[in-house]
Order: sequence, then structure tokens, then C-alpha cells
Amino acid sequence: MMNRNIINEIEKLSKRPKLFEKGTGNIWTEPYISTQMLKAHLDYKSDRASRNIEKVKKTVTFLKETTNKGEGILDLGCGPGLYAEEFCRNGYKVTGIDFSSNSINYAKESANKQGLNIEYRCEDMFNINYNEKYDTVIQVFGEVNTFSDENRNKLFDKVKNALKPGGLFIFDVSTPVHRRKNGLNKNWYVSDCGFWRGEAHIVFEEGFEYSDNIWLDQFIVIDNEEIKVYRNWFHEYTLNTIKEIVLENGFSKVNVLNGLYSKEVEEDSEWLTVIAAK
Ligand SMILES: C[S@@+](CC[C@H](N)C(=O)[O-])C[C@H]1O[C@@H](n2cnc3c(N)ncnc32)[C@H](O)[C@@H]1O
Repeated sequence: MMNRNIINEIEKLSKRPKLFEKGTGNIWTEPYISTQMLKAHLDYKSDRASRNIEKVKKTVTFLKETTNKGEGILDLGCGPGLYAEEFCRNGYKVTGIDFSSNSINYAKESANKQGLNIEYRCEDMFNINYNEKYDTVIQVFGEVNTFSDENRNKLFDKVKNALKPGGLFIFDVSTPVHRRKNGLNKNWYVSDCGFWRGEAHIVFEEGFEYSDNIWLDQFIVIDNEEIKVYRNWFHEYTLNTIKEIVLENGFSKVNVLNGLYSKEVEEDSEWLTVIAAK
């Protein structure tokens, strides 16, 4: 039977949290969930945790032709190394950083098996301290959307330090058009084994909208042992907002494209690629 404490806890957690308030769980670093995420990354046909493998290849070819920069690339939030491997095959010298040990262990093994010389580090990207080492820094699949303004600006500073003069920071962000397509969910279910837990659990899912194009997808997960809340924050950007923010953060030039391998930004673009020069 559920006792009063559990009900109070669920009630407390289901209230609309403060902007960018952290949850108590982490989908990228918890052993069980990060194994599920790794499976999603490696589902080469889907666009869930990573884009599908054809898009990965097209992106790397496009970035190679567009940027025409030197060979040193830093991939922040590299996951299992799909882009890192493709850049390496195209002659780049790649460093991949991710704080998911599951993904980094997989990436190291995969590179070894294929004889690809990639440096992988299991590290929080907010702790990196490189000084003018890289020609290009990339961050793929909307990670910038998930940061508070303060953390985003902190990361931009780290990236600027890591870039050589004139080096490029290339990242993609989703737009409010993308978010509106997905909408806000309010749902609950019971499962014996699923994405959140390998044992019986209940999930309460709820979406919240905030001002300034910020959204939260919140999941309260209850199992035999504990109640945890997972919060996925998304700050969606438009062409104008992201340009302004990049320039305010001290990059000298910025070009914004539609998606990761085409050119014109349209009114209904769901993804923007930002190419910012130091
Ligand atoms: C949406 S996935 C994209 C992975 C990869 N870029 C791709 O497209 O295949 C985001 C990745 O960023 C990593 N990540 C998130 N926050 C991080 C942090 N603070 N430091 C290092 N890695 C982080 C996650 O572990 C995850 O692998």
C-alpha cells in the first residue's frame, strides 16, 4: 500500500519546478538508463538519441566541404562516436568527450576494432580546459538546447578557449517549430520492464511550457526502492535569437543554416546549424 509520505513526495515533485531546476536522476549517466540510451544511439535507422547513420554520413561530408578547416576536431557530447568515427575516416584528428561511461567504453572498443585512432575521454564537458588546440569544435543533436543561459554561456567560453584563432564552433539547435510539433504530454503508465527501469515501475510524465521558448519534459519514476524525477529542459532558438547570443558571447562571425546539411533557413525550419567563428 502507498503510504502518506510517498503521496506527499509525488505531489511535491509534480509541481511546476523553477526554471532549469535539476531533477534527482540523470538519463545519461545512470547505469540502467544509459544502457537504454546507448541502444537508442546504435539503432542506426532511428533519429532518437542520435540521427540515423545516413544523416551522420551526409552531415560529415557537408561539414567537410563547408568548413574547409584544419584537421583537429573536438566533439563535445560525442555519445558512442558516430560522428567521431566518420570524421576520423575522413582524415581528421578527433577527440571525443562524453560523460556517459557506457557510451565512451563502447566508442573506444568500436574505434579499436576498426583501427581508428580517436582520443576518447569520459568527462563532463563543463570541466574541459583546452587552450587554442582545435580547428573545429562540434556539438551535434541539440545539446545546446538543454542548457540554462548561464551554463550555455559558460560552455561557449570553454569552446572559445579550446579553439585556435579563427577556429569554428559548429552546433545544431532545434527551433520552436520543432517543439510545437511534439507538444506537451501528460500521461502515466505501469511497466514491468522498460526504458526507465528493468523492474516493475510507474511513470508519471508531464510537460510544462515557460516563457522565452523554454519547455520541460518531466518524468517521475517510482520503483520498489525510490522515487526519482528526471527533467529534460529545452530552450528552443530561432535564427535571430541564436545569432544574437553567439555574437554576444564573443564569437566574431556567425552563419546559420537549415538542418545539418542544407543551406537556406526557412520559416518552418525545425533544426538550425550554427557555424560560429572565434
Ligand atoms: C543527444 S546525445 C547526442 C550524441 C551525439 N552527439 C550524436 O549525435 O550521436 C547527447 C550526448 O551528450 C552527452 N552529454 C550531455 N551532457 C554532457 C556533459 N555535461 N558532459 C559530457 N557529455 C554530456 C550525453 O551523454 C549524450 O551522449
